[in-house]
Parts: sequence; structure tokens; C-alpha cells
Amino acid sequence: MMDPYDRYELMVNGEVMKSPLVLSSMAGIVDAQYVNARKDFVGMACIGGYSIDQKTMAASRALAEAGREEFLYDDPVAELSSQIEQMAGTGIICALNLRGSSPASYRAIAEAIGPSVVYEIDAHCRQEAMIEAGCGEYLLKHQDQLHATIRALKEAGVTVSVKVRAGVAEDDRALARGIWEAGADILHIDLMDFGHTKLRQIRNSCPLQIIANNSINSFSIAKDMLAHGADMISLARQATPENLRSLDASLARYADETGWYNAPKQLCRGGDIRALTFCCMPVKQCPLIPTLEHLDISRNEFMTLKLDLVKNTPLAGGENTCFGSLAWCCKSSTPCMFRNMALKEQGLSLYDYMRYKHRLSDKLMQRVFEGDAFYATE
Ligand SMILES: Cc1cc2nc3c(=O)[nH]c(=O)nc-3n(C[C@H](O)[C@H](O)[C@H](O)COP(=O)(O)O)c2cc1C
Ligand code: SF4
Ligand code: SF4
Repeated sequence: MMDPYDRYELMVNGEVMKSPLVLSSMAGIVDAQYVNARKDFVGMACIGGYSIDQKTMAASRALAEAGREEFLYDDPVAELSSQIEQMAGTGIICALNLRGSSPASYRAIAEAIGPSVVYEIDAHCRQEAMIEAGCGEYLLKHQDQLHATIRALKEAGVTVSVKVRAGVAEDDRALARGIWEAGADILHIDLMDFGHTKLRQIRNSCPLQIIANNSINSFSIAKDMLAHGADMISLARQATPENLRSLDASLARYADETGWYNAPKQLCRGGDIRALTFCCMPVKQCPLIPTLEHLDISRNEFMTLKLDLVKNTPLAGGENTCFGSLAWCCKSSTPCMFRNMALKEQGLSLYDYMRYKHRLSDKLMQRVFEGDAFYATE
């Protein structure tokens, strides 16, 4: 069996994700027991939502009295610690989906529990009682408070995820960028009905790890999300062991066949900017040119950058390809005799080729985001 790191090259909170599948929280339902019944098929579980201070615990009690499922307890640290303990040994990364009414509440929990788990800020809940307590969607309308919460958690030295719902904030791209700039590590986005167009916009706005969510119930939808910018995908309502088993098996097969489980579509086929790794030399009128303009990267700079980044790697070869180097060659799903001949000469499989393209893409993205070029188009 392939080593999970080799398969996905995906790490969260310093640990290897054995699958890019994530369990998305459902208050009153997703706890350690629920996760343990699905442990063989997912890489991470967002348990909760758990309320963590007097205001939000009172909101939970009000919601429970009104008939909603909620987790109720008197001591959040004791409850969370017990849940984490019950998940120990599952090989699943634990994320705590939390509702707090102030940055200090989050920080206190992180200081009490420590960095072994991911802290997910619930900026998603739309229940009136939670919004009135200053959490859930409140944070999407008061982003200063969201940023302060992220900073408070980061000061406690933990990994931070933010769960949001698309279409609530005024501008989801600015929201994503603000979450990144405040120091978060992961953006968990419920895409509602916006689909992969919204996901691509978010991917092009920040280098955060992205979990895509909402109705991702089949392999074809999962693949579409991964090809438009998701690093992980999450399920809540349809997270039956049967669905998860089938999705996990299909994702593993796809990763083992292709070498890059979330390779983007090419730019001219609607891919996100990670697809610059597959782009030709900028010599013709095609979507690359406006993309470079938005990124504030000149054509010359792009040429130098790509060639520099492939130096001393097998992608530097390929003199008989269209542009004299595999640096400019297309995705493996585009059939091409010239590229395949060049790969054969180098003793590389298409699988290896995609792994090198993945590394090139990561380095290009570092340049884009560290160079602070803001991509503000569709
Ligand atoms: C009953 C129920 C409770 C939920 N509770 C939470 C919660 O506490 N925190 C949260 O971030 N999302 C919560 N969600 C949202 C889900 O995690 C998920 O974003 C949403 O259901 C869409 O994904 P799906 O199509 O896979 O179900 C809840 C959803 C449901 C149906
Ligand atoms: S450079 Fe090539 S791969 Fe990139 S958008 Fe243009 S035609 Fe497509
Ligand atoms: S040689 Fe083939 S793979 Fe390389 S750029 Fe030309 S068409 Fe694309």
C-alpha cells in the first residue's frame, strides 16, 4: 500500500493527512463517537460545534430548548479534552469547531488544550441565538472581530481554520485575503450553490489550505473541486460510512494514477492560477497574458522565473518540445507525443512528471503570494 504522505503530500498541523476527506461539523451530532465510526475513510474531522463561553453556552441551551441538536455541558475544557482523548489513536487529525463570543474565549481554550488539535472558528452558523452571542455569521459581518480571534489563537501557538459560508460577506475574495493576512492556516468554505467558480476566486486570492464544502457527494464533484483549488473536501449531511468509503477509494486510485490528486485544470480551460505550472511561453494571445498582467508579473519575468525554478530538475530537459523545455509543457491529461518522448528520454513517467509540475506550481505560488500580487479577477 502506498505511504499516505507519498500519495497526497498533504500535511495539516504538522501531521500527514491519510485522506483529503474531512468530516464537517454538525452541532449535537459530530463528536468522537461519530468520527470513530468513520475513522478508516477520512483524514481530518471537525468535531462540534462546541460553545466555549457563558454567552454561547446559553445560546446552545436556548437552541436545544427550541428543538435543535446541540452539545450541552458545563465545562467546555473537560468536554473537549474527553472528546480529543476518545479520538486518540485513530490517525485522524482533530479539529475543534468552536463558537465563542470573544477572542479571549478562544485563546483561553487553546491555552488550556494546547496545539495537538486544529482550532476551527465557526463563522458559519446562522442561528439567531449564536449571532446575538457574537459568533457564527456575526464574524463575517464584523471581520475586525474575526481577525482579532484569529490573532488571539495564533498568539496561543495553534493551527487555525476558519469555517465560512460563501455569499454572506460583502466580498468573499477580500474575506479570504483578510483571513490569510490575520494569520489563519486553513479556510473551510461552505460554497452553497456557488460551486467551483467561487472556489477558484478564493484560490486565486490567498495561499491558505482550502477545504471545499457543500453537497460534495460524488467522486466527479470532488474531482471538480480539487481541480479548481481545493486541498481537501468535507462532508456533513451525506457523510455516511458507505459514501466516505467509496469517495476515499476513488480519491486514492486517482492520486495513484495521476501523481497530483488536486492538479488544476489548465488556465485556458478555466483552471486557477496554480495552472501557471502548465502554461506555455507567453507568446500568444491567450488567458495567460491577462493573468500575468493581474499578477503584475511581466512576460520576461515569468519566463525567467519558470526557467530558474526548473533548473537542475528533469523539467529543464525536453529540447524537442514546443518551447524547448518541459517547464512549458501541458498537463498529462493533454496527450502529446513530443512531451512523452522527452519524458521517456529522461526515464520519467507521466506520474513523475506531474509530481515535478506540482513542485513547480508550489514555487510559483510562493512567488505570487510572497510577492504580494493580488489576483482580483474571476
Ligand atoms: C444539522 C447540522 C448542524 C450543523 N452544525 C454546524 C456547526 O456546528 N458548525 C459548522 O461550522 N457547521 C455546521 N453545519 C454545516 C455543515 O458542517 C456543512 O457546512 C453543511 O451542512 C454543508 O455541507 P454538506 O452538504 O456536506 O452537508 C451543520 C449542518 C447541519 C446539517
Ligand atoms: S499559455 Fe498555454 S496553457 Fe496557458 S492559458 Fe495560454 S494556451 Fe493555455
Ligand atoms: S510539446 Fe506537447 S506538451 Fe509540450 S507544450 Fe507542446 S503540445 Fe504541450
